[in-house]
Amino acid sequence: MADKTVPHTTNDAGIRVQSDEHSLTIGRDGPIVLNDHYLLEQMANFNRERIPERQPHAKGGGAFGHFEVTQDVSKYTKAKVFQPGRKTDALIRFSTVAGERGSPDTWRDPRGFSLKLYTEEGNFDMVGNNTPIFFIRDPIKFQQFIRSQKRRADNDMRDHDMQWDFWTLSPESAHQVAYLMGDRGIPKNWREMNGYSSHTYSLINADGEKFWVKFHFHTDQGDGNAYLSQEEADRLAGSDGDYHRRDLFENIARGNYPSWTLKWQVMPYEDAKTYHINPFDLTKVWPHEDYPLIEVGKLVLDRNPTDFHTEIEQAAFEPNNMVPGVGLSPDKMLLARGFSYADAHRARLGVNYKQIPVNKPKSPVHSYSKDGAMRVENVSDPVYAPNSYGGPAAQPDLTGEAGLWQADGEMVREAYTLREDDDDWSQAGKLVRDVMDDAARARLVGNVVGHLCDGVSEKVLQRAFEYWRNIDEETGKNIEKGVRDKLGGKSDQPGMASAVKIPEPAE
Ligand code: HEM
Repeated sequence: MADKTVPHTTNDAGIRVQSDEHSLTIGRDGPIVLNDHYLLEQMANFNRERIPERQPHAKGGGAFGHFEVTQDVSKYTKAKVFQPGRKTDALIRFSTVAGERGSPDTWRDPRGFSLKLYTEEGNFDMVGNNTPIFFIRDPIKFQQFIRSQKRRADNDMRDHDMQWDFWTLSPESAHQVAYLMGDRGIPKNWREMNGYSSHTYSLINADGEKFWVKFHFHTDQGDGNAYLSQEEADRLAGSDGDYHRRDLFENIARGNYPSWTLKWQVMPYEDAKTYHINPFDLTKVWPHEDYPLIEVGKLVLDRNPTDFHTEIEQAAFEPNNMVPGVGLSPDKMLLARGFSYADAHRARLGVNYKQIPVNKPKSPVHSYSKDGAMRVENVSDPVYAPNSYGGPAAQPDLTGEAGLWQADGEMVREAYTLREDDDDWSQAGKLVRDVMDDAARARLVGNVVGHLCDGVSEKVLQRAFEYWRNIDEETGKNIEKGVRDKLGGKSDQPGMASAVKIPEPAE
């Protein structure tokens, strides 16, 4: 007997189906027939349920909420989303970087902190991390970097030798690696960690005055340093791979809504030309003594997704989503990210990914894009611009992302021009010596020793000891001693040397 208290099952065309349990057959014991469209639909849809995972940052979770401006920062930006009292719907996604979709939440890694604000002037996305800096400063190295953190070609396994090989050959990674090997490498949960734009962005106010800015989202659930020890994280990786996802979901479900206070570091436009470090170098922070934090507003998460796939897996964040009043900067990494993400979304979700409800702006869209797979919204004539039939027209007087800085020079492939205090080691050393206390430093040394004793070859080990001595002499010595004591003498770990070499082609 049908249960009349629940909705009747239908197929995807809305046609009621007779059975959820039995296929259509010729006689009770006979073969299945091809006109059982319901069975076919179930099998075919199942075969197509998985979409490609994000290349980096595949494992994550997210929630909805709002961002409210609590202070007056209108002297820095004309963006409506940052005007006093403005409240804007928000989506956030937290993630790990290197692990796949099913990987444990507690693997050591930076954590992604992606925010989408559905502003009245279009979507504003900040795709940041839980650290204020990054491993590299030129986007041409990003792909190589991510490959070194993921899996080898021959055995498809992760490999600490290739991770340290890349890092020690890329000294600009020192600052971020010091963060990663410290407590921030395994946050206790997502609610208690900070989020950063990491990059420098630009602001422009209603009078056309320009500024540089870094975003800091400070957690209101603690000091931003809550962490798991390596041992706790290893245990949880085995017992509860979704530990961070579960923590966020359950807290929101209980009404324990996490929040973050947004603060800005603002640099006057002209300062950037003479500041003692390159203010667009993503491996560096701006000391707070030079540019103190200015409070802006509050982000609150108060709603869980009801369908993870449509609302979180299909969410598409892109650093190029900037609204008038906020823009990119000469940071080469940020500029490359301005191309990369939309391309990734077209590959992962299809060309019309901005029509998926979670990505759809809550402001009107009057674009000239047209057709393509899975376009679901109607376009109307005229389908071209310029036109004399009342179609949308662009606004040449709009100041925003365009025209925020000047650039000139020969085309070159070269590193940023060095400024007086630009080097790879000083800020990493300061982090280890001045920000970490003795206990945090001891944990750092323990974490690095454990990591290096897991498959790193002698030649890479020697570079790793030097790398850490460059960051901080004492810490480097402690790491070397820890590794030598644990491994005993020289390392005979094969590292990448065990990889199968592709034979040279015959002459
Ligand atoms: C995800 C590229 C640097 C934070 C991604 C994705 C790509 C990508 C292709 C997958 C997007 C998707 O399929 O949805 C790059 C490139 C970079 C770069 C080319 C450098 C040139 C960074 C930096 C940060 C960052 C510096 C942080 C400051 C993230 C986050 C995600 C992500 C948080 C996950 C987005 C989400 O939650 O959906 N990146 N990335 N990336 N990236 Fe980057």
